[in-house]
Amino acid sequence: MLPDKKAVKNLFDFVCEKTKEPNIARGCAADESVHHYIDVSRCAEKIASHCGLDSHKAKILGLFHDYGEYIERTVPGTFHGTAGYDEMMKLGYDEIARVCLTHSFWKGTFAPEHFVYDKKEIERAKELISKMELDDYDYLIQLSDMLCCHRKFVRLEERIDYIIKKYNRDPKESEGMKKAAEKLKKRFDKLCGQDIYELLGIK
Ligand SMILES: [Fe+2]
Repeated sequence: MLPDKKAVKNLFDFVCEKTKEPNIARGCAADESVHHYIDVSRCAEKIASHCGLDSHKAKILGLFHDYGEYIERTVPGTFHGTAGYDEMMKLGYDEIARVCLTHSFWKGTFAPEHFVYDKKEIERAKELISKMELDDYDYLIQLSDMLCCHRKFVRLEERIDYIIKKYNRDPKESEGMKKAAEKLKKRFDKLCGQDIYELLGIK
């Protein structure tokens, strides 16, 4: 189930209020997160409308894919993926819950060394995802998340360089990350019958 218009507004107001403070741990300015939610939502909606997916659903999924971020900011040992999943399941929005969980695993690995989050939560995510079959909406939000950075749509390389720097990852990881992200992009290039960069006006 997806939230109706009124519930979307209430949830978005709530999450904006909760992310008002700068995220020191993740190095985000106060409103950077909210811009990211809106950008991912716009990106997912646009791609969906060109590949036969439900663009309204894509828009809502994009808007709330990082819903658990406010919990990760304030509660030590939490991971925004599982935190968002739990909250959305409690609210009965199971379609949002699954993208909260699946969007972080676009590299196709659950190896704890690939994440800065609590190992137990990564294990729990792995367990939950093992019972799901990922669909085009999961992949769409993974890709959209990777195409939004610095308040605009960007090439995958730019987003990956940003992630490597932000999370202090080993630059050697970037090759594998680029391959995984390119695979996602190719899936939607094919589904849309055109290059996603062109579709989004990315140079
Ligand atoms: Fe995100």
